[in-house]
Amino acid sequence: MEKSKFTRCIKTAMIMLVAIFSLYMARLIPVDLLFAKSNAPTDEITARSQGDNPLLEEMQTLDRAYRDLVSAVAIHDGKGVYKALTSMHGTQRKTREGIRSGVVKIPKNPKRVKEFVQMDKVFHADLDSLAIAAKKNDEKEMLAITKRLLDGCVNCHQRFRK
Ligand code: HEC
Repeated sequence: MEKSKFTRCIKTAMIMLVAIFSLYMARLIPVDLLFAKSNAPTDEITARSQGDNPLLEEMQTLDRAYRDLVSAVAIHDGKGVYKALTSMHGTQRKTREGIRSGVVKIPKNPKRVKEFVQMDKVFHADLDSLAIAAKKNDEKEMLAITKRLLDGCVNCHQRFRK
């Protein structure tokens, strides 16, 4: 008797687990309810101290600017794209100087500085082309470059960010 009660208990628990899982898979239960999610991952990123590291400072500015870019490109707002780009002025120069003077340490593959600088150059050339496209409010071109820029972020991080 005791044993069958126990197996019934296990069965009920299993059925409930399956039910919860199915509801979750069907997205009827929001993920946040099942897994406590840190509600501000971006704040975590920006909270990291920039100290005197121009690369981190550039990245944090770039991070904000890229989000604004995406929003502006999505609504075909060339002026908005241009404005997002201007917020980054001067950051690349500081990073370059930092690399030269040794203040900036590249976290991964630090010996491949040349390759890093080359990737950075290509990336910033795209930013310049984007500024031109934004002035013309050229929707197709703005979209193409913005997509390419995201590839640039990810490629560089894979190679040089720990
Ligand atoms: C040429 C290389 C390169 C490109 C291009 C690049 N990044 Fe980075 N990024 C880095 C490196 C290296 C780090 C790690 C720096 C460190 O931890 O010292 C980094 C770090 C970051 C961080 C974390 C900053 C922190 O506080 O820890 C963010 C966010 C970021 N990048 C966003 C972007 C975005 C968004 C783009 C594209 C729009 C981008 N990056 C393009 C090299 C790059």
